[in-house]
Amino acid sequence: MSDEQELARLASEIAREAGELARVRRAQGVHLAATKSSIADIVTAADREVEELIRARLAEQRPGDGFLGEESGADSGESGITWVVDPIDGTVNYAYGIPSYCVSIAAVQGGADPESWHALAGAVFSPAIGELFSAARGHGAWNGDHRLSVTAETPAGALLATGFGYDPATHDGDLSTVRRVMPMARDLRRAGAAALDLAYVAAGRLDGYFERGLKPWDFAAGSLLVQEAGGVVSRSDVDSARPLIIAGSAAVHDRLRELIGDES
Ligand code: IPD
Ligand code: CA
Repeated sequence: MSDEQELARLASEIAREAGELARVRRAQGVHLAATKSSIADIVTAADREVEELIRARLAEQRPGDGFLGEESGADSGESGITWVVDPIDGTVNYAYGIPSYCVSIAAVQGGADPESWHALAGAVFSPAIGELFSAARGHGAWNGDHRLSVTAETPAGALLATGFGYDPATHDGDLSTVRRVMPMARDLRRAGAAALDLAYVAAGRLDGYFERGLKPWDFAAGSLLVQEAGGVVSRSDVDSARPLIIAGSAAVHDRLRELIGDES
């Protein structure tokens, strides 16, 4: 097993355990712990508990590595590897009882800044559905033991997905981006968990995905899944506060980039 595959194995094992904890806590009832960037941007007690579990498992098994988590922030390590973690991506779905939420864990070479890193391995686990997506650089992307591949053709137009940030002031701009891409779309989905959107692009369940303002933990594992499934992911920070991520097959990615342009 290569180092990347060993990191993917560990990410998968921990994502499963963490996802199971999230699922059990969901069944017991959701407790809001705080709000963050806006009143719509919530944190549940489970987000914090699940991140603590992931952090503890990584500290046991990879004590020299760094950590960057949505809920508990960054710690630098000495090994050059950083774990980038979203304990529950799709927290609003989780709070409302919609099954589209997941645990996302990536191991990257480099520090906490996505500009500086190179993803080595990742896992996205969807506890309500029971699917585990994983990738190791150079070894493909997988749903369990099924190898993933992005869609090749979109004769009826592309099935696209996107997301909107929590700040209502950004909604007009995001909606005008949607208007620009609709000419290439057969339809548009907004399922509410960026890491799952990216996993579904890797799996060919979506043809393309774009979103502004994602945080590193939202896309670290999912971007590697798309790349290892033969797709392209790009990040542009013309609007440095809300960088734009675009993912899909090369053809869908390039067309999305052309339609969206560099406007912010
Ligand atoms: C959010 C989800 C959502 C996306 C937001 C993210 P969170 O992450 O991924 O789909 O549109 O931009 O912040 O808050 O549920 O971890
Ligand atoms: Ca989250």
